[in-house]
Amino acid sequence: MPDLIRYDVRDRVAILTVDNPPVNAMGPGVLEGIEDGVARANADAGVDAVVLVGAGSTFIAGADIKIFGTLKTREQSLARSEGTHARLKRIEDSAKPLVAAIHGNALGGGLEIAMSCHYRVMAPDAKVGQPEVLLGIIPGAGGTQRLPRLCGAALAIEMCTAGKPVPAPKALAAGIVDRAAVGNLLDDAIEFARAKGAARAVRKTRDLTDKIADRDAGLAACAAGRKTLAATAKGVQAPFKAVDAIEAALTLGFDAGSGRERSLFADCVTSTECRALVHMFFADREAAKVPDVPKDTPVLAIARAAVIGAGTMGGGIAMCYANAGIPVLLKDVDEAAVRRGMATIRKNYESSVAKGRMTPEAFGRTMSLITPTTAYDDFERADIVVEAVFENMDLKKTTFAELARVTKPACILASNTSTLDIDEFAQASGRPGQVIGHHFFSPANVMKLLEIVRGRETSKEAIATSLALAKKLGKVGVVVGNCFGFVANRMIAYYMREAYLLLEEGAGVSQVDGALTEFGLPVGPFGMQDIAGIDVGWRIRQHLKLTGQKRAEGPQSEVPDRLYEMGRYGQKTGAGWYRYEAGSRTRIPDPLVDEIAASEAAKRGVTRRKVDDGEIISRIMTALANEGARILEEGYATRASDIDVVYCYGFGYPRHVGGPMFYADTVGLPTVLARVKEYRERLGDYWKPAALLEKLVAEGKGFHA
Ligand code: 3HC
Ligand code: NAI
Repeated sequence: MPDLIRYDVRDRVAILTVDNPPVNAMGPGVLEGIEDGVARANADAGVDAVVLVGAGSTFIAGADIKIFGTLKTREQSLARSEGTHARLKRIEDSAKPLVAAIHGNALGGGLEIAMSCHYRVMAPDAKVGQPEVLLGIIPGAGGTQRLPRLCGAALAIEMCTAGKPVPAPKALAAGIVDRAAVGNLLDDAIEFARAKGAARAVRKTRDLTDKIADRDAGLAACAAGRKTLAATAKGVQAPFKAVDAIEAALTLGFDAGSGRERSLFADCVTSTECRALVHMFFADREAAKVPDVPKDTPVLAIARAAVIGAGTMGGGIAMCYANAGIPVLLKDVDEAAVRRGMATIRKNYESSVAKGRMTPEAFGRTMSLITPTTAYDDFERADIVVEAVFENMDLKKTTFAELARVTKPACILASNTSTLDIDEFAQASGRPGQVIGHHFFSPANVMKLLEIVRGRETSKEAIATSLALAKKLGKVGVVVGNCFGFVANRMIAYYMREAYLLLEEGAGVSQVDGALTEFGLPVGPFGMQDIAGIDVGWRIRQHLKLTGQKRAEGPQSEVPDRLYEMGRYGQKTGAGWYRYEAGSRTRIPDPLVDEIAASEAAKRGVTRRKVDDGEIISRIMTALANEGARILEEGYATRASDIDVVYCYGFGYPRHVGGPMFYADTVGLPTVLARVKEYRERLGDYWKPAALLEKLVAEGKGFHA
């Protein structure tokens, strides 16, 4: 095994290379190795200065995130942080100048090590950041104390509370780094270190005072930071604790400030928020791994794409391809439909330009990648076609048969269907290995989730290609099985069932929505449906009635049907679950909906009562976990964490709660099972515990290992 830290000498400069693939995380031995290397360089008469650099594609990307799971108590955390802080101080005490040479990313502990060096040289395309809050913690290796000393409180607060990395020009201008490398980074850093070495110029970040000298300005930045967070960081504590720690850098000396950081870090690392966010970090990456699709499965190059159907979804999907620089044909039935589709796309991009999110040049370039068409000309050059025509089986089957005729044999044929059986299209195409579901979420150009639906005969190459493509499109791809509604919509049916029934039992529309937004969702079920359209759900229910199916087990509330019959489709008609003033999206509660719910409840013999918010959350979350368990036992999702990823990216489920399956684990599966049984007793037999839920409880396990 190669050394974690290599020691070489060039031109009287010691080069310490951290070599801990894939991202040089500070796993066991890394920090120790750096300290040893610095000590060796200090004792080496042939060395005047030291450069610290990362091997491979990046500098140090931070602490090894797996370690946080081992810090179960404050005491364990405090002991570990004390060791780390002391080690970094000893490194900073080097008598010979230390220069960090940063390429790729210096994140979290990586930036904290770089700041413990005396100087920093940065590749022009590198980034530095303190993304710890995205893991429910604060910088814990001195970052909250050293960063404000380099760049002042305001930027330190911005970096430590938003977690967004900063590019080289900004880092240089702010004083976080000392130099943007010209030419080869290592050569440049060695040259820089030689000059500092000749002058024996050491500069300890912890001794700098200039940028924090104006205490009032610093404290004002803390107050402003807290005010912003009060509006933007609902339900999480880590960003607030980061401000507290930075405030300590302004008001206490370095050592006392570091002590405060250790204490606040310990509060965070032992929290459920941290456990949930760390779970989501690994869940995102696990989702890209499909057990029977090996890493070396051939991936087809996607250089050209085509989309069929220039409606709501097709237009958004074409934008995804164009945004990723992939030329895309956009086909619809006639000129008018294509023109409408292109006009919507243009309007979306123009709004991005108006908001400063897109340059006029990028607008022109991106628009030119989308070619509208009403014919199949040029389809033979496409590497993938995504079908997004109306949700109609016959139409889709005809479309797939046509696509098989006009595309090359290797072309992937993807469908954006939300409910139909892709195996039927696969057979209609005559090349089922190439057929796969690409279920985008609306608006397709915004929502990050891509459910990749695997049919009976979908090839491994098509799956591997879809996963790689998802990443290229900036999406999170999750492979799911071909059941009704796949994972996301199958579970949402249970979420909606409970919401409707709670309404009939006596809860209010804004009460249900309010309880769920308080829980952390961006919008509750009724507000969401007013955006998506009550007519959309109605059409699906009609289709199911014809085929004798139900979206979810149990009583089918007819409240949404009554709204549909009244022409209340949601925001687009000015009324749905709420009322809307012309031109406004403000939700105004409408007592009429409550009357409809009462009348439907009477028809079904439901006695109305006062429902409390706790019951709303408990009923809805239990329904999600139970159905999720069923999806797992039937094999339509690979692992519980995939369901969490689907929910967080598809419906804005709060990441700091960890997704519905992780949340169930935090509640405790015995409690979840007891609730299912209680509801069965109280509400009816349709509340059946999933076999997997019973099995896990019997074995004393959770959904996640
Ligand atoms: N610890 C452990 N594993 C890590 C890791 C880390 N800090 N960062 C990345 N990995 C792993 C990933 O899990 C993945 O493993 P896998 O291949 O087995 O799934 C592998 O490294 C590659 O990661 P990505 O797929 O994310 O690679 P990318 O090239 O897309 O992105 C990156 C690279 C930008 C560095 C991204 O991995 C990233 O953002 N990592 C996390 C950075 C971070 O949050 N750092 C702060 C950690 S907390 C900290 O430092 C606390 C300190 O204050 C004490
Ligand atoms: P839409 O009605 O907005 O657009 C459908 C488009 O397909 C129309 O422009 C129509 O002219 C066109 N079309 C119909 N037949 C065609 C043909 N033979 N060749 C070319 N174009 C044809 O519908 P929407 O909402 O975009 O839905 C499309 C698909 O995406 C459906 O399968 C739907 O279930 C699915 N979907 C919809 C979501 C949504 O929120 N709207 C979310 C996820 C999936």
